[in-house]
Amino acid sequence: MSLERTFAIVKPDAVAARQAGEILAMIEKAGFRILSLRMTRLTEPQAKGFYAVHCEKPFFPGLVKFMTEGPIIVMALEREDAIRKWRETMGATNPANAAEGTIRKRFATSIERNSVHGSDAPETAETELRFFFSTADLLG
Ligand code: RTP
Ligand code: MG
Repeated sequence: MSLERTFAIVKPDAVAARQAGEILAMIEKAGFRILSLRMTRLTEPQAKGFYAVHCEKPFFPGLVKFMTEGPIIVMALEREDAIRKWRETMGATNPANAAEGTIRKRFATSIERNSVHGSDAPETAETELRFFFSTADLLG
C-alpha cells in the first residue's frame, strides 16, 4: 500500500493536561511521520464548521464549547494506511470502549473529552487538512 496522509488534533483537554509530548511520542512510535504541526486555537465559527457533520447531534453545543476552551495542536500525519492506523492508534470514541495501548484508553476522561481527533475517510482527511494547512505546509 502506498503512503497516505491524515489529519489529527491533540484536543484542548490533552494540551491543558500537558500530555501533548507523550501523545506525539506515541504517534511517532506508531510509525507516523509528522508532515506538519501547529498549535492554534479554534474560534466558535471554526469549531462549528469543522464539526458541521455533527450539527444536529445533541452533543454538538458541548463539543463546540470543549473544542474552543483552549489551545489545540493540529497535525498532518503520513504513513501507509494512515487514516485507518491513526484511528486504531487513537482508540474508540468512548474511552470505556478503547483498547489497551491506545491514546484514548490512556488519556481520555470521557466520550467527549477524548484527547485526540482523527479523520474518518480519504475525503474528510483532505478537507480537514485543507482547513488548517497550505500546500507548502504539507510538503513535509
Ligand atoms: P473525532 O471526530 O473527534 O475524531 O471523534 P470520533 O470520530 O471518534 O467521534 P465522532 O462520532 O466523530 O464525534 C466527534 C466528537 O464529538 C464528541 N462526542 N461527544 N457526548 C457524546 O455523546 C459525544 N459523542 C461524541 C467527542 O469529542 C468526539 O470525539
Ligand atoms: Mg469523527
